[in-house]
Amino acid sequence: MGNAQVTNEGNRPQISEQQKAVEEDLVQRVLESFESTEDPRLKFLMQRLTVHLHDFIRDVRLTEEEWDFAINFLTQVGHITDDKRQEFVLLSDTLGASMQTIAVNNEAYANATEATVFGPFHVEDAPKIENGEDISFGAEGQPAWVEGTVKDTDGNPIPNARLEVWECDEDGMYDVQYTDGRMSGRAHLFSDENGEFRFWGLTPVPYPIPYDGPVGKMLAAVGRSPVRAAHLHFMVTAPEKRTLVTHIFVEGDPQLEIGDSVFGVKDSLIKRFDEQPAGTATPDGRDLGDKTWTRARFDIVLAPEEA
Ligand code: BEZ
Ligand code: FE
Repeated sequence: MGNAQVTNEGNRPQISEQQKAVEEDLVQRVLESFESTEDPRLKFLMQRLTVHLHDFIRDVRLTEEEWDFAINFLTQVGHITDDKRQEFVLLSDTLGASMQTIAVNNEAYANATEATVFGPFHVEDAPKIENGEDISFGAEGQPAWVEGTVKDTDGNPIPNARLEVWECDEDGMYDVQYTDGRMSGRAHLFSDENGEFRFWGLTPVPYPIPYDGPVGKMLAAVGRSPVRAAHLHFMVTAPEKRTLVTHIFVEGDPQLEIGDSVFGVKDSLIKRFDEQPAGTATPDGRDLGDKTWTRARFDIVLAPEEA
């Protein structure tokens, strides 16, 4: 746990009673403007947003130049966003807002596997593979054998769970970041009758989130790296189970120490990718020639849908 200062209590500049009354009166008037909102949830959200937003402005004594800068920044975020590039999500990710929303919506439940950030690189129609086949479809990198089980929180295997898996290549690029329309480094498969799954993928490598836009500028201004810790994405679905969106991270990846730019790492998701020297027999007899490879295990536990 870090020790960064998280509140400004005690540091607030002194303001006169008269000034305080002006500021509080405005907050009250904005709150009242939402009083007749019919949808109770919308009313609650707008009023709480008002409280927090005004508290922020008053807390930091926001200058007009800073307000102007923020409006310009958000305008740039909007301008670079299109149906392929979602800079608002990137902003949410780098502020930890995506991970906080995931935390709030995926309450810890018994021994269920923890969720993490979805990211922008999932696609709907990834090819189907059989257990033991390869998701790389030409993506370059060190082969990795990944195997595990899908179980419920009572330890019962879940056959036929759908696993979607996706990852970048050894250059840190997802297929969708190339302009040639390739589909690689992704697939879906189903757990077998014993709830087990296995596939060939690539040993994950660290890569930067897109940093050529306003979010990248923000990271540079605050001295933060855009790099994500190496990971392999999973989305696991099964009837009557809570959908799990998660990744596994690579034990020993130095980026785990430096920090993941979107705060996605959870200790329980760090897995060993054991290095296998060239020539080591593979689990399925595949001949990898003079290539080294790794093997990793990920045992997945799905929470019930109502969790
Ligand atoms: C990703 O893991 O693919 C990702 C997550 C958040 C922002 C950018 C990329
Ligand atoms: Fe990713």
